[in-house]
Amino acid sequence: MSEFSLIAPDDWHLHVRDGDLLSTVINHTAHTFKRAVIMPNLNPPVTTVTRALQYRDEILAAVDEQYEFQPLMSLYLTDNTTEADVTEAAAHPSIIGFKLYPSGATTNSDAGVTRISSLMGVLEKMAELGVVLQIHGEVTDPHVDIFDREAVFIDQVLDPIHRELPELKIVLEHITTSHGIDFVNSATRHVGGTLTAHHLLYNRNELFRGGLRPHYYCLPVLKREEHRRALVEAAISGSDRFFLGTDSAPHTQHAKESACGCAGCYTAHAGLELYARAFEHMEALSKLEHFASIAGPKFYGLPVNKTRITLKQEAWQVPSHFATAQGEHIIPLLADESMVWRATRS
Ligand code: DOR
Ligand code: ZN
Repeated sequence: MSEFSLIAPDDWHLHVRDGDLLSTVINHTAHTFKRAVIMPNLNPPVTTVTRALQYRDEILAAVDEQYEFQPLMSLYLTDNTTEADVTEAAAHPSIIGFKLYPSGATTNSDAGVTRISSLMGVLEKMAELGVVLQIHGEVTDPHVDIFDREAVFIDQVLDPIHRELPELKIVLEHITTSHGIDFVNSATRHVGGTLTAHHLLYNRNELFRGGLRPHYYCLPVLKREEHRRALVEAAISGSDRFFLGTDSAPHTQHAKESACGCAGCYTAHAGLELYARAFEHMEALSKLEHFASIAGPKFYGLPVNKTRITLKQEAWQVPSHFATAQGEHIIPLLADESMVWRATRS
């Protein structure tokens, strides 16, 4: 197969930042994806409907007019989120859920939730109104080994919430372990999970291949090969539970290449192509459309896109960097390396 078309895909987990970074990255996504769930971990975070709608306008203003792109906004859950906030959010079709960051788990998560058990009223209201809870699934206890933080979160936090509120729609974001896959598969149909291309392509060895490689550092961190395999099997399984979420997370070069570098892989420049690479390794390109374009809308109760996109086998080289208007550089995943698949709008 040297060329094939598929229903235009959506990205169910994306960071686009604001200002200078936003205008540098947004059209990479808009080129290929029709919709994207926009993460609210700005500084300060996007905690209100008013701010989310304003942020949505900022994003739309940065999208090139040749693209039809719809940002779906997620609100940042805090200890102070109220049931009234949920009711207000549920009334806006362009607000698609609340994001739970355990406080301190990752980039700009300090304002996140310190005790989820104090928010049960808010979660009940979300379940009642069909609002989706998107979860960064890691505990933050420094005594828990960083490679175990997802599994411990599932046992100690996620499983109890799901048992208490089985009707609550939950997306376990960027699953990185077989525990995460097993949890989603054994949960009710109200639970889904996103998978990133980098977690499908790489195991934790990639972080240390020939030296320390900061552009492969993200959270949750890459795991062992057995976990990568479990993710790939889930992605190509044709299940409605697992769908595409790039977690493309731009940082400036100096923020990544530093004594204490930020977590996040920038992948939007090859958002669909990197998944095509992972699916092709498994001879499963025929399963890509379900994963990238069908399972996500089904879970969120939205129509699939009407337009199509073509993936062509065509060698191209990933740029060494993308420069912002203010001269900062973003280093993309696979910088200077060659790619085999290229997406074009049909
Ligand atoms: O690697 C990550 N980067 N993981 C996250 O959870 C946040 C993200 C970011 O915002 O940079
Ligand atoms: Zn993320």
